[in-house]
Amino acid sequence: MKVTVVGAGNVGATCANVLAHNEVANEIVLLDIKEGFAEGKALDIWETSPINLYDSRTVGSTNDYSKTADSEVVVITSGLPRKPGMSRDDLIATNAGIVKQVTENIVKYSPDAKIVIVSNPLDVMTYCAYLTAKVDSSKVFGMAGVLDTARYRSFLAMELNVSPKDIQAVLMGGHGDTMVPLPRYTTVGGIPVTELIDNEKLNEIIERTKFGGGEIVKLLGTSAWYAPGAAAAQMVEAIVRDQKRVFPVCAWLQGEYGMNDIYLGVPVILGKNGIEKIIELDLNNEERALLEESAVAVKNVMSVLDNMNVVA
Ligand code: NAI
Ligand code: 2OP
Repeated sequence: MKVTVVGAGNVGATCANVLAHNEVANEIVLLDIKEGFAEGKALDIWETSPINLYDSRTVGSTNDYSKTADSEVVVITSGLPRKPGMSRDDLIATNAGIVKQVTENIVKYSPDAKIVIVSNPLDVMTYCAYLTAKVDSSKVFGMAGVLDTARYRSFLAMELNVSPKDIQAVLMGGHGDTMVPLPRYTTVGGIPVTELIDNEKLNEIIERTKFGGGEIVKLLGTSAWYAPGAAAAQMVEAIVRDQKRVFPVCAWLQGEYGMNDIYLGVPVILGKNGIEKIIELDLNNEERALLEESAVAVKNVMSVLDNMNVVA
């Protein structure tokens, strides 16, 4: 069983490394356009296997898609990352061209693959891949919510001085500053978070989460990769092992939450068929208003892509 990761840069290589360490697939193909880059990263990960004791075989490829043939899952991380002062949306023109070209090749060699998009701007690149792939929307979705929720949970764990393992949370909306963390659906070992933290502190954590990507860009001069790579790998594992995990995923909405024709972060069940169900929460008025505001922001960038005519 094969999994492919396109883009052997920071996020892609980290994702492949986590997949190999967790033995999620027999073969993990890493593909990049830069000559020798994916081969080098794949070899380095393979050379770690006798130390950390795993036997997933990692294979590199410079733009040769025949090596990705019959992949069960493909993760697309190819594209430019953010630099300081750039928004995720600034990346749209360049990354749309890359995501389109990569998706065409992926569906040619793996028509049944589940495709997980990571490239930014995430919601719109997922839309771009969906338009290009022309497969069912249950097979094309984006990784953002697993990462954004992880950031939210990690900040809460620090504040409350508890294990991040015990924090469960849901976060919805686009992968941007309008994302919607939901305190009403956040628990610490089963206890509603609102019983453990005051409102002011919780709001500070929510604000920090919304700008969590930018916080790392400011520190590093480029965007994050350890948590994003691990988040994408966790989604791949849920599909490959048919775990039916409940994750916030960027999914195509057709009537859910009263929205149509939009890719937006919502809770879903992820299993061997990709998105097996979109879970509809009974949002209150305030939560719904925030989700709608986020949807407007995503729709605006989707129409930028539509007007660019990148995808025929
Ligand atoms: P990176 O620059 O380290 O790696 C990108 C790789 O893509 C490079 O190695 C490049 O050669 C390759 N590439 C470019 N064009 C290609 C093509 N046509 N075919 C194959 N490979 C190609 O960037 P990094 O940090 O890995 O980020 C990758 C993308 O993921 C960026 O767009 C970034 O904004 C996004 N990202 C998204 C997150 C999310 O939560 N959805 C989180 C973190 C990053
Ligand atoms: C992140 O959230 C920039 O999307 C990237 O780290």
